[in-house]
Amino acid sequence: MSIETNGANVLGIGGTLSPRSTSELALRHCLAAAEELGARTRMITAAQLEMPMYQWGVADGCAAAQELLDAVRWADHVVISSPGYHGGMSGLLKNALDYLQELAEESSPYLDGKAVGCIVTAAGWQAGATVLGSLRDTIHALRGWATPLGVVVNSSVSPFAPDGSVIDPGLDAKLRLLAEQVAGFPVAARRSIAV
Ligand SMILES: Cc1cc2nc3c(=O)[nH]c(=O)nc-3n(C[C@H](O)[C@H](O)[C@H](O)COP(=O)(O)O)c2cc1C
Repeated sequence: MSIETNGANVLGIGGTLSPRSTSELALRHCLAAAEELGARTRMITAAQLEMPMYQWGVADGCAAAQELLDAVRWADHVVISSPGYHGGMSGLLKNALDYLQELAEESSPYLDGKAVGCIVTAAGWQAGATVLGSLRDTIHALRGWATPLGVVVNSSVSPFAPDGSVIDPGLDAKLRLLAEQVAGFPVAARRSIAV
């Protein structure tokens, strides 16, 4: 089946500061699949998410925050990838998402109208599943449309080769399907509804 992406802009956000971050590897694989479908992609990884703890209305002086906000404005759709840290997403990622408060007054606030694919990597399935649920709650609070598929990676049985490629065909298929659901989401669905 061919997917119509209409050259959508897809932004990837996530990963950790670990040298071989599995959440970043999974994100890269998903974005590469989105590109194969004709999407334009851009990625903001953990090193670019290192910013001061968010304080309401005080993002002007932070270059990393401005880069994130501009990238979200650019994006039609988003893929977010987090590690499971003590039953939740990483503090690094949550802090970055808190900065989206700076988009609250824009014509397309927060993640309004964007499909958002979620990936979670954790050292066990249970944490992956619970973190996926809470990450989706945050996406909904930010007015994003969490895709039907969410991808959980159990990093204790690494599905990645030394060069970072995905060696588990099941994970490859899931990340490709996630890319389809994100990149194929209609851009025309973007609406700004005052509530
Ligand atoms: C601070 C911290 C907390 C963690 N908490 C959990 C957890 O509650 N459950 C779990 O299964 N794995 C937990 N892990 C393991 C990570 O989720 C796992 O190593 C994941 O692959 C890390 O992502 P990365 O490879 O992108 O760095 C934790 C790791 C760290 C560093």
